Amino acid sequence: MASRLFEEQEHAALYQKYRLPSHSQILNLVLDYLQRKKGKPFRLAVDIGCGSGQSTRGLASYFERVVGIDVSGAQIEEARKVDGPENVSYRQGLAEELEFEDGSVDLVTAGAATHWFDMEKFMKEVERVLKPRGCVALYCCQVPFELHYNDCSEQLTQIVQEMFKTLAPYMSERCQMVRNKYKEIFDAITFPDKERVDNIRFKQQASVSWVKGFFESLSYYQTFQEKDPECAKASIERMEQNFLQAVGVTSSEAVLEVKWTAFCLLASKPE
Ligand SMILES: C[S@@+](CC[C@H](N)C(=O)[O-])C[C@H]1O[C@@H](n2cnc3c(N)ncnc32)[C@H](O)[C@@H]1O
Repeated sequence: MASRLFEEQEHAALYQKYRLPSHSQILNLVLDYLQRKKGKPFRLAVDIGCGSGQSTRGLASYFERVVGIDVSGAQIEEARKVDGPENVSYRQGLAEELEFEDGSVDLVTAGAATHWFDMEKFMKEVERVLKPRGCVALYCCQVPFELHYNDCSEQLTQIVQEMFKTLAPYMSERCQMVRNKYKEIFDAITFPDKERVDNIRFKQQASVSWVKGFFESLSYYQTFQEKDPECAKASIERMEQNFLQAVGVTSSEAVLEVKWTAFCLLASKPE
């Protein structure tokens, strides 16, 4: 099962440290959509494939209750380690078997996770648990991302692209859905009222060591490491050295700017 990829404790710990925090651009887009389609009150949001909970915690201020669900016990354990808002809780569970009552959920979200789900079964569950006019938001960041630093941005972005090329043979077919910007997933959304938003852009300041850690957290880097640990380690260390050389510093704490582009699929359950 594809989700086994996320079940190692070490992998879950990398997630906690190196995944993106909740992005306000995506969050605002989703909240505006929910307001437009269903309106308040916003009682219950469920974040599926929540990983170590970054995406889940971002919803806390807007809902009475937020529940993060992930198939991986290791990820749920990491999520629970964070002193989070009191209205957020986590449960181990499957996207395809949601343990919520019929018509009880205002919003279902999944960040960088839907490509791992059985979409037909997941949609059946989404249809069942959402309230009338409740919404589902499925989003993901595109790769490769851009890296910027003074006048060497082109060189840095090229190093990122080369690393993604090295990792490509280890990428599961499911990750190809991200490259297609979830086209198949959009088609599989059963609600007639659906839309997509592309080119959501945001920036993040991150050290060279964070970028390295982000690569290590990717499922396909984990696969590379399992199949050929020495080569995986050498590749990622070479990438780090290439970054440092391009920027002209010796410390991996040097701060770069990461530019992300994301997309989001939005749909609303009929009345
Ligand atoms: C790439 S991570 C995304 C984590 C987080 N939402 C984020 O935005 O960084 C994908 C997560 O989906 C979980 N996952 C995969 N298949 C799943 C399924 N069928 N049901 C629930 N969670 C699943 C994995 O265990 C993993 O933690």
